[in-house]
Parts: sequence; C-alpha cells; structure tokens
Amino acid sequence: MTPNPFKPTAGKRPPVLIGREAVIEDFAEGLDNGAGAPGRLMFLTGNRGCGKTVLLRELQRLASERGWVVISDSASLGLCDRLADALRSNRPTVTSVELGPSFGRMSVEAARAKGEALRGLVNERLKKLGPGKGILFAIDEAQSASIEELAALAVLYQQVLGDQDATGLLDVEQRGLALVFAGLPSMVDDLLEEPSVTFLRRAQQRTLGSIPLPEVRDAFIQTVQDAGLCVDAKTASLAAHKSMGHPYMVQLVGYYMWRSAARRDSEIIEPRDVEAGNKDAVSEFYEAVDAPLYYGLRSPQRLFIEAMAVDVGKPTRVADVIDRCDRTQSWASKYRASLIRERVIEAAGYGLVRFTVPMLGEYIRDCVLWHE
Ligand SMILES: Nc1ncnc2c1ncn2[C@@H]1O[C@H](COP(=O)(O)OP(=O)(O)OP(=O)(O)O)[C@@H](O)[C@H]1O
Ligand SMILES: [Mg+2]
Repeated sequence: MTPNPFKPTAGKRPPVLIGREAVIEDFAEGLDNGAGAPGRLMFLTGNRGCGKTVLLRELQRLASERGWVVISDSASLGLCDRLADALRSNRPTVTSVELGPSFGRMSVEAARAKGEALRGLVNERLKKLGPGKGILFAIDEAQSASIEELAALAVLYQQVLGDQDATGLLDVEQRGLALVFAGLPSMVDDLLEEPSVTFLRRAQQRTLGSIPLPEVRDAFIQTVQDAGLCVDAKTASLAAHKSMGHPYMVQLVGYYMWRSAARRDSEIIEPRDVEAGNKDAVSEFYEAVDAPLYYGLRSPQRLFIEAMAVDVGKPTRVADVIDRCDRTQSWASKYRASLIRERVIEAAGYGLVRFTVPMLGEYIRDCVLWHE
C-alpha cells in the first residue's frame, strides 16, 4: 500500500508548504542582510490551524542552516528563565512543550530583571559565533506568555542591537539576534498596546490567512503524483475548493480523498473520492478548530454567534442579532467588538458582520443549535 502523504496533524510539516514563500524570503533576507534588517523581528499570527507552528519551524531550519543558534520555546510563564537556561546549557536547540494559560502577570520590574540577565548571556554566547551569525529565539504560542516577558524580549532585541553597534564592527560582521513570535492574533494586539515597546509596531507582522485556491490545486496534483497516485486538474480543483484554502483543511481533504481512492484500490483519485472524504474532513475540522474556539468563548459571545449562525451563506445584520438575542444595542456593540478583536467575526459592510473562521456557522448549526 502506498503511504498517504497528507499530514492533518498539528505542527506536522505538510508535503508541500503552500503559499508561504514571501514570509520565508523576508526572513531569509533578514538573516542575510546583517544587523538591523527588518525580517529579524517578526510576528506570525493567525487563527488555529493556519500553519504558524509549521512555518516557525521552517524559519528555524533556515536559521540553523545558516549557522545560527536556534532556541525555541512554546511560551508560558517563565519564558525568560527557560531561554536563559537554554543559553547556559549550550545546547543548540531547546524545545519546551510546556503549554498552558498565563498564570497571572509578573511585575514589569521582575520581567526587566530577567531580560537584563538574558542580555548578558546572549552577548556572551554571541561572542563565540562567527561574523554575521546570531541567535534566533523562536517563540510559539506567544499568546500564552505574559506580556511583560514578551516585552522584555523585545527590549532585549533592541539592547543587543545597540551592544553590537558598540563593537564598531560593520553591520554584516556584527552578531545578531532574531526574534520570531507566533501566536493567535490577540497576542499582537496586546503586545502592541504595551507602552514600553512601541517600537514593536515597526516589526514585520505576517498574518497567515487562507491560501489561494490555484496554489492549493497545484499542490494537490504535485503531492498526489509524488506519492504515486494520479489526480486530474478538475478533481484537484474540486478538492481545493472544499479546502477553502485553509491549511489544516487542505491536509484533511487531501488525506481523506487519498484514503477513499486507496480503499477502492484505485490509482486515480476521482471526484467521488473528494466527496466521500469530505464528510470526515469536515467533522475533524469541526472538532479540531471550530469546537475549541466556540467553547473557548464567553457565554455572551457564544450567544452572539449562535444568533449569527441562523443566516446561511450571507452576512448577519447586527440589528437581527439584537432581536434574536433580545438584548440591547450596547450589549451587541460590546460583544461585536470583542469578537472582532478575537478575529472570530469581521465587519461586512454597514451594520453587518460575518464569520472569519471557516465553517464556524456550519458547526454551530450542525452541532450546537441542532441539539437544542
Ligand atoms: N503552508 C501550508 N501548506 C499546507 N499545509 C499546511 C501549511 N501550513 C500548515 N499546514 C498543515 O496545517 C495543519 C496545522 O498546522 P500548524 O500546526 O502549523 O498550525 P498552527 O497555526 O500552529 O495551529 P495552532 O494555532 O492550533 O497551534 C498541519 O496539518 C500542517 O501540516
Ligand atoms: Mg501551533
């Protein structure tokens, strides 16, 4: 049996990393262009499953290929301490799997002190590196870190730039620091509101949105061919359409269409395989993306989007939400704003809103309202 090449698994490198060339190029240029290059300070944001972890790993790979030290972490409280440990231990890469919510806020002074300790360690480590090389801090799940610690890292970034300038070396010879944060969109909003680090507004912000469908179609064709089956352009387009260009859904649709063809012992993936696999793909997407998001919201937010889910295939009037929920205008404005901030919904014209997360409305209709 030919192994299924698609990878619908969080953090797992897909067979083709579709549509991320621009980010990769910006980062690579940042490393190659010497101290102060913009791509060295980057935020990768996007909703669940849009490919942040996978892309962050790709950037780590690039840095490591260029002889940079890579220190990666999945953020939670104690981030700076763990980074300091990693620097002390001299291990090239450290990946912590400690995940979880932020356990309260640390004082600004405490975070500063930790940042200052890191600065000494970073500078010491940089001295041992060749000209033009540096250290990459790759921080995943940054929304779980304390804002104070993220801000301390941002300050550290600036200080190290200054320390390197003070060496009097040319920019291309200076040792550097690169800082990439990956996290949910609210992380960037929170961090950018932090007054101590306004310079971060000039960092490169990359929102990982959906991938254009022609690119998805071509990747389907290539992946299937490379792995030993066939799919024609029309079938691949149908599959791309079903995926909506969402990276996780791309892997799910690919995985289940492949499985369907394999179960028929066919070497050709046909439209019926895409259709047959789609049901499984959708229900896994519901479970992995829509359900955690829905249950992670506060109950008034849920009420708001349940009222939106009534409208099939069209935006919702905020006035209808007010009617359907029997709430006031100010209640609606408050939760409309909070849902927009969390990138669950977006404005769709005057007085209108729509979902930004794929299939959230369908999920609510199929799995929540249906049971009521
Ligand atoms: N550019 C891409 N092209 C094709 N598939 C991708 C791409 N990026 C990610 N994927 C696939 O999408 C899925 C989710 O990727 P990943 O775990 O990196 O997302 P994430 O944004 O980190 O999710 P979370 O917010 O849950 O941590 C994986 O199955 C991965 O293989
Ligand atoms: Mg991730």
